Amino acid sequence: MIRLQNIEKVYRTDTVETLAINGISLDIAKGEFLSIMGPSGCGKSTLLNIMGLLDEPSRGSIKIDDQDITRFSDQQLAKFRNQKLGFIFQSYHLINDLQVLDNVELPLLYRSGSAKERRELATEALAKVGLSNRLKHFPTQLSGGQRQRVAIARAIVGNPQIILADEPTGNLDSAMGNEIMDILINLNKNDGTTIVMVTHDENMAHKTHRLVRLFDGSQVQ
Ligand SMILES: Nc1ncnc2c1ncn2[C@@H]1O[C@H](COP(=O)(O)OP(=O)(O)OP(=O)(O)O)[C@@H](O)[C@H]1O
Ligand SMILES: [Mg+2]
Repeated sequence: MIRLQNIEKVYRTDTVETLAINGISLDIAKGEFLSIMGPSGCGKSTLLNIMGLLDEPSRGSIKIDDQDITRFSDQQLAKFRNQKLGFIFQSYHLINDLQVLDNVELPLLYRSGSAKERRELATEALAKVGLSNRLKHFPTQLSGGQRQRVAIARAIVGNPQIILADEPTGNLDSAMGNEIMDILINLNKNDGTTIVMVTHDENMAHKTHRLVRLFDGSQVQ
């Protein structure tokens, strides 16, 4: 489903050059649930952003669903990302002056479909994460775990084949973290969604199919 070949990422500022990703090749199968672990700064988010087409590698090729996206124009990339990928960020990235329902509808605005359909799909996605009773709340009126669940609803509303999650349980206590993890496991099992999750939590990682460890931009396991 995702094939990374010899990915390198160099960040340059005026004074320093950081090799954030140093030649990573990775094959992720359709329906796989993969976790990525490693110390702070080892390149986990960078790698996830590259898989999510939010950042370009300095070198190497990326194929998603057998399409070589390195050749895509910006417009093609945006469309592809919107249709195939759902992203869950550690810091939620919700829009605070939009209600929960409107936040979840956002990815659908770039697709065809009526306002009524968007509303129905967003309501359904929020039901899946157990937030049917919070549709009209604003993000600031929610707990951390609830915000994370809104972020998950937004990631799944367009029925993506792939979900990329950057420490989705990082800010939560273990009970809420387990709940979020159960939601992801169910998406993977029931819908066959391919999931790549960055985590600092060994317990969460052990619930997934495969664990990849990074160190200093390289894969060590
Ligand atoms: N925009 C940027 N410009 C310059 N350097 C960057 C940039 N983004 C990341 N880096 C560097 O690349 C390296 C990898 O960063 P990355 O965010 O991928 O780490 P991480 O493994 O996700 O860490 P954490 O667990 O703390 O989130 C770090 O050394 C970081 O300083
Ligand atoms: Mg990170």
